[in-house]
Amino acid sequence: MRVLITAGPTYEPIDPVRFIGNHSTGKMGYALAEVFAENGAQVTLISGPTNLPDPANPQIRTTRVETAAQMYAAAAAAAPTADVWVFAAAVADYRPRDVAPNKIKKDGDTLTLELVKNVDIAAALGQTKRAEQFSVGFALETNDEEAHAQGKLRRKNFDLIVLNSLRDPGAGFRHDTNKVTLLDAAGQKTIFELKPKSAVAHDIVRTVFACLSLRNA
Ligand code: CTP
Repeated sequence: MRVLITAGPTYEPIDPVRFIGNHSTGKMGYALAEVFAENGAQVTLISGPTNLPDPANPQIRTTRVETAAQMYAAAAAAAPTADVWVFAAAVADYRPRDVAPNKIKKDGDTLTLELVKNVDIAAALGQTKRAEQFSVGFALETNDEEAHAQGKLRRKNFDLIVLNSLRDPGAGFRHDTNKVTLLDAAGQKTIFELKPKSAVAHDIVRTVFACLSLRNA
């Protein structure tokens, strides 16, 4: 089995020293890479900037990228030959329209940046997904969690979506733990307890394998 995983944040440059980013650590995506590899998969891990070392497991090939455009290019290259896609990255939705060639100097009391939309990696690849491929997305929500997650499941052609609510203490960014609800395209919903991200990764991988074996039954 071949698995493609996106992980971590993206950094969208403003000038040579500044960027727009987010607090994603990459831990959930890296934990998933380890668990898929332990289960025999060949993993392509496409990672935005993180403080995590490249996984040592030889079955995991790590590609480092910075921007959403670079992450899309790397993911699009790996997607056609991957059986499972996992979009765990926190991709910046917008980037500065112009990247200043030199450091922007502090003049004036306000500074306006014009932002343009980035490619939605999961949605764009979702349109190319073949019947035998399986796509997993993430949704980090603060309100109307299930409705938003169901909307993303459909819009991005996911087979499974991992929902975290920021209303749950210990879930989401900057924690070593996570509390997730898994929703699949067939309408099945499973709520898990708060646990370490490595244990959450096992739950997600088990669920992917269960969905695939049901599909092939
Ligand atoms: N995603 C992606 N490329 C993007 C944005 C999101 O691949 N440019 C993926 C994420 O990796 C995640 C899923 O899409 O698996 C949902 O991400 P999220 O940011 O919650 O979705 P958005 O469509 O950006 O919705 P929102 O308006 O809530 O930000």
